[in-house]
Amino acid sequence: MVTRKDIHDRVLNATSKEELATVYGEWAEQYDTDLIDEMGYVAPVIASQLLQGYVDDLNARILDAGCGTGLVGENLHQKGYRNLEGFDYSAQMLEKAKAKEVYNRLHQGDLTARLDLAENNYDAIISVGTFTSGHVGPEAFDELIRITRPGGHLCFTVRDQAWEEDNYRFAMDKLEKSGVWKCVEEKTTDYIQQEGSSCKVCIYQKCL
Ligand SMILES: C[S@@+](CC[C@H](N)C(=O)[O-])C[C@H]1O[C@@H](n2cnc3c(N)ncnc32)[C@H](O)[C@@H]1O
Repeated sequence: MVTRKDIHDRVLNATSKEELATVYGEWAEQYDTDLIDEMGYVAPVIASQLLQGYVDDLNARILDAGCGTGLVGENLHQKGYRNLEGFDYSAQMLEKAKAKEVYNRLHQGDLTARLDLAENNYDAIISVGTFTSGHVGPEAFDELIRITRPGGHLCFTVRDQAWEEDNYRFAMDKLEKSGVWKCVEEKTTDYIQQEGSSCKVCIYQKCL
């Protein structure tokens, strides 16, 4: 029997995008139940709440980057946001997200490649659970910044283990020194309560 722990270990230890997409494809059906009901995955609620403090307009165009089954979209929709789009690599995860009927558009693609999305297109980007080991690293920031409008916000979590391994602080400071974004808030919070993991949750603003 495939257990929740097995599949979560495979997600964290995948060695290629193809392998990761296969594992998420297998997990999509059970993902919400496993992570929310069984494992206490609180990062989507925490990050959505944080972004809400910076985006007053309920019609703001918001991209959920690495939307998975749509947990973040669901949270933002409950708070009244109505102009949400999702982006993910996995077709099966996107299908689950579509079924929630909270996104106006869903895009399938790779966040580590050039995005087929116009520049200055979004008022805000939110990305939860996607900047993590074996998934997406700090190299994805350039494109996410490009598609955010000047003055718009980027909210993302980085799992603590990946934060150290992939030297996020260096990459984020480098972008700040080059004048493309500035940090407006950063804190450490719970990530998955049952495993005792934590993450950084960050809000950056694209410079004018
Ligand atoms: C842990 S899940 C997080 C999903 C959702 N944001 C949440 O909090 O439940 C990570 C998601 O990132 C997606 N992902 C991983 N690598 C990706 C990539 N290179 N491009 C786009 N999506 C990717 C996976 O398909 C998966 O849906």
